Amino acid sequence: MKKINYLIEIEEFDSINELCKDDQDLLKQAISASENAYAPYSKYHVGAALRLNDGKIILGNNQENVAYPSGLCAERVAFFHANSNYPGKIVEAVAITAKSEAFVVNRPVTPCGSCRQVMAETENIQQRKIRVIMMGETGSVLIAQSIESLLPLMFQAEELKIK
Ligand code: THU
Repeated sequence: MKKINYLIEIEEFDSINELCKDDQDLLKQAISASENAYAPYSKYHVGAALRLNDGKIILGNNQENVAYPSGLCAERVAFFHANSNYPGKIVEAVAITAKSEAFVVNRPVTPCGSCRQVMAETENIQQRKIRVIMMGETGSVLIAQSIESLLPLMFQAEELKIK
């Protein structure tokens, strides 16, 4: 037996003001996307904004349902919209944020495992890394330069060995 250590690198910024203008703008779009979340059950309103390589911005927000598992996270709403309406375009970056009706979200919002897997698929297809910018309502901002940093040892299509 041997132990393998994987190194992941995440950048932390003290506030949104420390980011470059493109990242700040994308986060602001994510904040506005969160305004349209349908979250009557969790009261947790998530917004995601993707920037495509032609500069187009795609927005998504969480869409809940009285049959709880039927709902979908903001990130997957945005990625599936991009993939279905702009196939072939490269996703350069995604900004994610949230606000709650019950408390102040003072930590960066980090995507759930299913959303990481969906983002990883896009990254694999496009063969270009996706920057992930994560923020709460207040506080620091985290940036991962690739989904790989958020999902080490991800499941990959090659493992299906389909010819
Ligand atoms: N949610 C997202 O939209 N994205 C995440 O990364 C985590 C969770 C949503 C799902 C649900 O509507 C609510 O937040 C509470 O889990």
